[in-house]
Amino acid sequence: MRWLLSTGRAPPAAFHAALTSVPASERDGWLDRVFELGELPDDGPELPSGCVPYLPSSVDTLLRMVELAEVQSGDVFVDVGSGLGRATALTHLLTGAGAIGLEIQSALVRGSRDLASRLNAPRVAVIEGDAVRLTRYIMIGSVYFFYCPFGGERLDRVLDDLEAIARTRRIRVCSVSLPLPSRSWLTPVSWSNDLTVYRSLCDGWNRSLRRRARACS
Ligand SMILES: C[S@@+](CC[C@H](N)C(=O)[O-])C[C@H]1O[C@@H](n2cnc3c(N)ncnc32)[C@H](O)[C@@H]1O
Repeated sequence: MRWLLSTGRAPPAAFHAALTSVPASERDGWLDRVFELGELPDDGPELPSGCVPYLPSSVDTLLRMVELAEVQSGDVFVDVGSGLGRATALTHLLTGAGAIGLEIQSALVRGSRDLASRLNAPRVAVIEGDAVRLTRYIMIGSVYFFYCPFGGERLDRVLDDLEAIARTRRIRVCSVSLPLPSRSWLTPVSWSNDLTVYRSLCDGWNRSLRRRARACS
Protein backbone atom coordinates (compact mmCIF):
# COMPACT_ATOMS: atom_id res chain seq x y z
CA MET A 1 0.00 0.00 0.00
CA ARG A 2 2.87 2.41 0.77
CA TRP A 3 4.22 1.85 -2.72
CA LEU A 4 0.76 2.26 -4.30
CA LEU A 5 0.25 5.55 -2.45
CA SER A 6 3.68 6.98 -3.16
CA THR A 7 3.26 6.23 -6.86
CA GLY A 8 -0.29 7.60 -7.06
CA ARG A 9 -1.83 4.18 -7.72
CA ALA A 10 -4.36 4.09 -4.85
CA PRO A 11 -7.49 6.07 -5.78
CA PRO A 12 -9.96 6.74 -2.92
CA ALA A 13 -12.22 3.75 -3.63
CA ALA A 14 -9.26 1.34 -3.70
CA PHE A 15 -7.76 2.81 -0.54
CA HIS A 16 -11.14 2.68 1.24
CA ALA A 17 -11.59 -0.96 0.19
CA ALA A 18 -8.09 -1.88 1.40
CA LEU A 19 -8.59 -0.17 4.76
CA THR A 20 -12.02 -1.64 5.41
CA SER A 21 -10.84 -5.13 4.45
CA VAL A 22 -8.64 -5.01 7.58
CA PRO A 23 -10.48 -6.17 10.73
CA ALA A 24 -11.81 -3.11 12.60
CA SER A 25 -9.65 -3.71 15.67
CA GLU A 26 -6.46 -3.74 13.54
CA ARG A 27 -7.12 -0.67 11.36
CA ASP A 28 -5.27 1.86 13.53
CA GLY A 29 -2.14 -0.28 13.60
CA TRP A 30 -2.42 -0.93 9.84
CA LEU A 31 -2.71 2.79 9.12
CA ASP A 32 0.25 3.65 11.35
CA ARG A 33 2.35 1.09 9.47
CA VAL A 34 1.23 2.45 6.07
CA PHE A 35 1.94 6.01 7.27
CA GLU A 36 5.20 4.92 8.96
CA LEU A 37 4.16 6.54 12.24
CA GLY A 38 5.88 5.29 15.38
CA GLU A 39 5.37 6.15 19.02
CA LEU A 40 3.29 9.21 19.92
CA PRO A 41 5.66 12.20 20.12
CA ASP A 42 5.99 14.20 23.33
CA ASP A 43 4.17 17.53 23.36
CA GLY A 44 6.31 20.63 22.87
CA PRO A 45 6.57 23.96 24.68
CA GLU A 46 4.37 25.76 22.11
CA LEU A 47 1.19 24.07 23.37
CA PRO A 48 -0.63 26.84 25.27
CA SER A 49 -1.86 26.09 28.74
CA GLY A 50 -5.48 24.95 28.59
CA CYS A 51 -5.10 23.43 25.11
CA VAL A 52 -5.25 19.69 24.55
CA PRO A 53 -2.11 17.62 23.78
CA TYR A 54 -1.75 15.40 20.75
CA LEU A 55 -3.85 12.27 20.62
CA PRO A 56 -4.88 10.93 17.21
CA SER A 57 -8.51 10.23 16.27
CA SER A 58 -9.24 6.58 15.68
CA VAL A 59 -9.70 5.21 12.18
CA ASP A 60 -13.18 4.15 13.22
CA THR A 61 -14.11 7.75 14.11
CA LEU A 62 -12.67 9.10 10.86
CA LEU A 63 -14.50 6.53 8.73
CA ARG A 64 -17.76 7.53 10.42
CA MET A 65 -16.95 11.22 9.99
CA VAL A 66 -16.31 10.80 6.26
CA GLU A 67 -19.59 8.96 5.87
CA LEU A 68 -21.84 11.13 8.06
CA ALA A 69 -20.42 14.44 6.82
CA GLU A 70 -20.55 13.09 3.25
CA VAL A 71 -17.03 14.28 2.49
CA GLN A 72 -16.43 14.31 -1.29
CA SER A 73 -13.50 14.99 -3.57
CA GLY A 74 -14.67 18.57 -4.08
CA ASP A 75 -14.50 19.36 -0.35
CA VAL A 76 -11.72 21.00 1.58
CA PHE A 77 -11.35 19.34 4.97
CA VAL A 78 -9.85 21.51 7.73
CA ASP A 79 -8.55 19.81 10.88
CA VAL A 80 -8.42 22.41 13.68
CA GLY A 81 -5.50 21.16 15.80
CA SER A 82 -4.19 18.58 13.38
CA GLY A 83 -1.39 16.82 15.27
CA LEU A 84 0.77 14.64 13.02
CA GLY A 85 -1.62 15.02 10.06
CA ARG A 86 -3.04 11.52 10.38
CA ALA A 87 -6.68 12.72 10.07
CA THR A 88 -5.97 15.10 7.18
CA ALA A 89 -4.00 12.48 5.26
CA LEU A 90 -6.55 9.72 5.89
CA THR A 91 -9.54 11.91 4.92
CA HIS A 92 -7.78 12.91 1.71
CA LEU A 93 -6.91 9.31 0.82
CA LEU A 94 -10.45 8.08 1.54
CA THR A 95 -12.25 10.81 -0.40
CA GLY A 96 -9.89 12.77 -2.63
CA ALA A 97 -10.80 15.96 -0.72
CA GLY A 98 -8.16 18.61 -0.23
CA ALA A 99 -7.06 18.70 3.40
CA ILE A 100 -5.52 21.45 5.53
CA GLY A 101 -4.31 21.03 9.09
CA LEU A 102 -3.81 23.83 11.61
CA GLU A 103 -1.28 22.92 14.27
CA ILE A 104 0.60 24.92 16.88
CA GLN A 105 3.36 22.42 17.75
CA SER A 106 6.27 22.74 15.35
CA ALA A 107 7.48 19.14 15.72
CA LEU A 108 4.01 17.91 14.75
CA VAL A 109 3.93 20.31 11.80
CA ARG A 110 7.26 18.91 10.57
CA GLY A 111 5.94 15.38 11.03
CA SER A 112 2.78 16.24 9.04
CA ARG A 113 4.81 17.65 6.16
CA ASP A 114 7.03 14.56 6.12
CA LEU A 115 3.93 12.36 6.03
CA ALA A 116 2.34 14.28 3.13
CA SER A 117 5.59 14.08 1.23
CA ARG A 118 5.98 10.31 1.85
CA LEU A 119 2.42 9.85 0.58
CA ASN A 120 3.07 12.06 -2.42
CA ALA A 121 -0.06 14.01 -1.46
CA PRO A 122 0.28 17.66 -2.57
CA ARG A 123 -3.38 18.39 -1.64
CA VAL A 124 -2.58 17.70 2.04
CA ALA A 125 -1.10 20.75 3.75
CA VAL A 126 -0.50 22.04 7.25
CA ILE A 127 -0.29 25.61 8.53
CA GLU A 128 1.74 26.22 11.65
CA GLY A 129 0.26 28.52 14.28
CA ASP A 130 -2.54 29.07 16.75
CA ALA A 131 -5.77 27.73 15.27
CA VAL A 132 -7.72 30.18 17.40
CA ARG A 133 -6.32 32.98 15.23
CA LEU A 134 -5.87 31.06 11.97
CA THR A 135 -9.23 29.38 11.38
CA ARG A 136 -10.94 32.58 10.20
CA TYR A 137 -8.51 32.81 7.29
CA ILE A 138 -9.22 29.29 6.01
CA MET A 139 -12.25 30.41 4.06
CA ILE A 140 -11.72 27.73 1.46
CA GLY A 141 -12.81 25.03 3.94
CA SER A 142 -16.10 23.17 3.58
CA VAL A 143 -15.73 20.61 6.39
CA TYR A 144 -14.17 21.72 9.71
CA PHE A 145 -13.08 19.01 12.13
CA PHE A 146 -12.49 19.35 15.87
CA TYR A 147 -11.09 16.57 18.02
CA CYS A 148 -11.16 18.72 21.15
CA PRO A 149 -8.09 20.91 20.59
CA PHE A 150 -9.50 23.42 23.09
CA GLY A 151 -12.75 24.59 24.64
CA GLY A 152 -14.12 27.63 26.43
CA GLU A 153 -13.42 31.09 25.03
CA ARG A 154 -11.07 29.72 22.38
CA LEU A 155 -13.79 27.51 20.95
CA ASP A 156 -16.33 30.35 21.14
CA ARG A 157 -14.02 32.57 19.13
CA VAL A 158 -13.39 29.96 16.45
CA LEU A 159 -17.13 29.27 16.11
CA ASP A 160 -17.79 33.01 15.73
CA ASP A 161 -15.20 33.09 12.96
CA LEU A 162 -16.77 30.05 11.29
CA GLU A 163 -20.13 31.81 11.35
CA ALA A 164 -18.68 34.52 9.12
CA ILE A 165 -17.54 31.81 6.67
CA ALA A 166 -20.91 30.04 6.89
CA ARG A 167 -22.65 33.24 5.84
CA THR A 168 -20.96 32.91 2.46
CA ARG A 169 -21.83 29.23 1.88
CA ARG A 170 -22.85 26.01 3.61
CA ILE A 171 -20.26 24.28 5.75
CA ARG A 172 -20.15 21.19 7.88
CA VAL A 173 -18.57 21.06 11.33
CA CYS A 174 -17.59 17.73 12.86
CA SER A 175 -16.82 17.40 16.51
CA VAL A 176 -15.39 14.44 18.43
CA SER A 177 -15.77 14.16 22.21
CA LEU A 178 -16.54 17.88 22.34
CA PRO A 179 -20.12 19.13 22.56
CA LEU A 180 -20.15 22.44 20.67
CA PRO A 181 -21.81 25.40 22.37
CA SER A 182 -25.19 26.19 20.83
CA ARG A 183 -25.22 28.55 17.85
CA SER A 184 -28.30 29.67 15.91
CA TRP A 185 -26.48 29.13 12.57
CA LEU A 186 -25.38 25.58 13.33
CA THR A 187 -27.53 22.49 13.77
CA PRO A 188 -26.57 18.90 14.55
CA VAL A 189 -27.69 16.61 11.73
CA SER A 190 -26.14 13.27 12.58
CA TRP A 191 -24.22 11.64 15.37
CA SER A 192 -22.65 8.37 16.24
CA ASN A 193 -20.96 7.58 19.57
CA ASP A 194 -18.54 10.42 20.31
CA LEU A 195 -18.95 12.11 16.89
CA THR A 196 -21.47 14.83 16.00
CA VAL A 197 -21.83 16.33 12.53
CA TYR A 198 -23.36 19.79 12.25
CA ARG A 199 -24.42 21.76 9.19
CA SER A 200 -24.59 25.48 8.88
CA LEU A 201 -28.00 26.99 8.26
CA CYS A 202 -28.89 29.36 5.49
CA ASP A 203 -32.18 31.20 5.04
CA GLY A 204 -34.79 29.12 3.28
CA TRP A 205 -33.59 25.66 4.23
CA ASN A 206 -32.95 25.91 7.96
CA ARG A 207 -36.44 24.80 8.90
CA SER A 208 -36.17 21.52 7.00
CA LEU A 209 -32.75 20.80 8.52
CA ARG A 210 -34.07 21.50 12.01
CA ARG A 211 -36.94 19.09 11.34
CA ARG A 212 -34.44 16.45 10.22
CA ALA A 213 -32.32 17.05 13.34
CA ARG A 214 -35.39 16.63 15.54
CA ALA A 215 -36.34 13.44 13.71
CA CYS A 216 -32.84 12.02 14.39
CA SER A 217 -32.99 12.75 18.10
C1 LIG B 1 -6.57 15.70 20.54
S1 LIG B 1 -5.34 16.19 19.34
C2 LIG B 1 -6.20 15.90 17.81
C3 LIG B 1 -5.26 15.62 16.65
C4 LIG B 1 -5.94 15.43 15.30
N1 LIG B 1 -6.96 16.43 15.06
C5 LIG B 1 -6.57 14.08 15.15
O1 LIG B 1 -7.80 14.02 15.22
O2 LIG B 1 -5.88 13.08 14.97
C6 LIG B 1 -5.39 17.98 19.53
C7 LIG B 1 -4.34 18.68 18.72
O3 LIG B 1 -4.64 20.07 18.73
C8 LIG B 1 -3.44 20.79 18.81
N2 LIG B 1 -3.74 22.11 19.37
C9 LIG B 1 -4.17 22.40 20.63
N3 LIG B 1 -4.37 23.72 20.76
C10 LIG B 1 -4.08 24.28 19.58
C11 LIG B 1 -4.11 25.61 19.09
N4 LIG B 1 -4.48 26.65 19.86
N5 LIG B 1 -3.77 25.83 17.81
C12 LIG B 1 -3.40 24.80 16.98
N6 LIG B 1 -3.33 23.53 17.41
C13 LIG B 1 -3.68 23.25 18.67
C14 LIG B 1 -2.56 19.95 19.71
O4 LIG B 1 -1.18 20.26 19.56
C15 LIG B 1 -2.91 18.54 19.22
O5 LIG B 1 -2.06 18.15 18.18
